[in-house]
Amino acid sequence: MISFTVNGQPQSVDVAADTPILWVLRDALHLTGTRFGCGMALCGACTVHMDGNPIRSCSTPVSMAEGKAITTIEAMQDDAIGQRVQQAWMDEAVAQCGYCQSGQIMSAVALLKSNPNPSDAEIDSMMSGNICRCGTYNRIRDAIHRAAETPVAQGDDSLFTEVRV
Ligand code: FES
Ligand code: FES
Repeated sequence: MISFTVNGQPQSVDVAADTPILWVLRDALHLTGTRFGCGMALCGACTVHMDGNPIRSCSTPVSMAEGKAITTIEAMQDDAIGQRVQQAWMDEAVAQCGYCQSGQIMSAVALLKSNPNPSDAEIDSMMSGNICRCGTYNRIRDAIHRAAETPVAQGDDSLFTEVRV
């Protein structure tokens, strides 16, 4: 048995020690907000927090979670910064297909918890490991600024190209 908490609730699971946390969350605990993308720690779709730090759950064995606190997208509605980020995501209409967005939000929340007023460069650095095939990067950056209650830089859309509808 491997024991840890998920969103504040104690959990014990009887799985192989090398099972990725992603599959424990999705298959054993039925928390399906965390997504499988690449399975190789390359896209960020599976991002959750372990003791407050963002991790790629697809490539982190559940044995590493022993005694630790895992937080998933399902808990963001009860988290002050998570609420601000989710509201900002809606205000900026960030999502397109939505597949990557739970991972994007988990990375954004981790950023704002460690840096309440990130610059564009700090946002781009933190979020660079979260891939969005729909190209929502500019809106993600704007939403993080909105959640941080810092001004959104105007006219700085040079890093990414997207079509806004
Ligand atoms: S599914 Fe984990 S990083 Fe892509
Ligand atoms: S919104 Fe479609 S992959 Fe990001």
